Amino acid sequence: MRKIYVFDTTLRDGEQSPGVNLNTREKVEIALQLEKLKIDRMEAGFPAASPGDLAAVNAVARAVKDVTVIGLSRSRESDIDAVREALQGAQDPCIHVFLATSPIHRKFKLRMEKQQVLETAQASIRYAKKYFSKVEFSLEDAGRTELDFMAEVVGMAVREGANVVNIPDTVGYLNPSEYGAIFKYLKENVPDIEKVQLSAHCHNDLGMATANTLAAILNGADQIEGTINGIGERAGNTAIEEIAMALETRSEFFGAKTGLVLTEIARTSRLVSKLTGMVVPGNKAIVGANAFAHESGIHQDGMLKEKTTYEIMTPESIGLKESKLVLGKHSGRHAFREKLLDLGYELSEEQVNDAFAKFKVLADKKKEVSDEDLLALLEEKLIDTPEVFKLETIFVAYGNESTPTARVRIATVDQTIEEEAEGNGSVDAIYNAIDKVTGEEVTLADYSIKSVTHGKDAQGEVHVVLSQNDVAAQGRGLSTDILEASARAYVDAVNVLIEKRKTFSRRERATL
Ligand code: KIV
Ligand code: ZN
Repeated sequence: MRKIYVFDTTLRDGEQSPGVNLNTREKVEIALQLEKLKIDRMEAGFPAASPGDLAAVNAVARAVKDVTVIGLSRSRESDIDAVREALQGAQDPCIHVFLATSPIHRKFKLRMEKQQVLETAQASIRYAKKYFSKVEFSLEDAGRTELDFMAEVVGMAVREGANVVNIPDTVGYLNPSEYGAIFKYLKENVPDIEKVQLSAHCHNDLGMATANTLAAILNGADQIEGTINGIGERAGNTAIEEIAMALETRSEFFGAKTGLVLTEIARTSRLVSKLTGMVVPGNKAIVGANAFAHESGIHQDGMLKEKTTYEIMTPESIGLKESKLVLGKHSGRHAFREKLLDLGYELSEEQVNDAFAKFKVLADKKKEVSDEDLLALLEEKLIDTPEVFKLETIFVAYGNESTPTARVRIATVDQTIEEEAEGNGSVDAIYNAIDKVTGEEVTLADYSIKSVTHGKDAQGEVHVVLSQNDVAAQGRGLSTDILEASARAYVDAVNVLIEKRKTFSRRERATL
């Protein structure tokens, strides 16, 4: 079996999804989970983009041990220097330098002739090579680049000692036979091409990212790039879980495999969805809620007789477990701990106590606490942001012919404050009341709600993004009541915002 290297860019291209804004703590949490999934390489961010990005890449670089950590850089020395700074402390650092090569990008974006593109790329690979033993070079918009010019640039990258050369279909324009043919062409026409690994990087604008990436593998790509749940710019990137499961399920066809621990897929997907606030559609391949659900009578009958009639892979293979233990309000700590182990969570005594207390509160509201409920509770927060404001109670008065009013009680370190406000809806009234308590001037940039479980007593998870000047913060709230979940998410985001502001001002002071 040929090994296909997996380059994860959830923290860079994935974070470029509209509305997604991960803070350093969240990036590290995802990075540690990606390490458990055993991806080979992870792109942690674009250090030159902002001091926050640089700090986050550095935190990831120091946190993970068994994965190559990569920083993105345009073809300029100052960007390369930012990656050098960001990757200090990394066990296995790598720089990813890119330059656009297509006629459209050359003419309108770079305003460069072919020769200038070639020279600029060459100079930056040379500069990067002085400081990094591992260099990846990407020809941005390779998908719309003339084949002979592409071969010229790739040949130059090979001679300059790049270790990986990436061929992005930046705008998701190609179809599988065209994209596969590029790899074949480069293999046949670039001298010494075997000295580098060729990488596939696809976007999903026409829904062909997975098919294109698989075509690249069939034509000799050594590495694939993608994100968890396929998040990313516009329609997103190739979904890593789809490639891994396609290679696993059809190994006899592809003759290639990734080294991923496939049973970590479900958990990684849930974590990325939770921290980015990007809900996974029910019908999403591999990780959608319905990916292993069978609704029609004919299918259910087949499944009962022989699972392989309608299932080409098992839910267990991606880490979904069918658990026999049902928890409710009478369940004790022992059963609770057993269930956690069953779900793959080995927690410290303190974490178990914390989770058990939350579980008891939930079990009082719900007859049966499902695995999904528990997972949502467990994944709610592993590391807490300091709670400058702590929501104690909310009261909402709503009638379809009157103005909604909300009263909130919020505790701070030294006092408890109560405020009341009106709004053009119940959630708006709650948020206005919270604003009065916190005194923070914030803009609600995004609000989304999803049901974590099924039924009338399902838990709702609300995700909000708040912004204040240049700082954006995400918050999450979980409750069987959506108004309470909305209030919790908002207060959580305000706390994150305050924490982020502190970090920024500490850093600004340090650089003065
Ligand atoms: O899609 C793209 O071209 C990219 C490059 C930066 C590699 O993400
Ligand atoms: Zn991309």
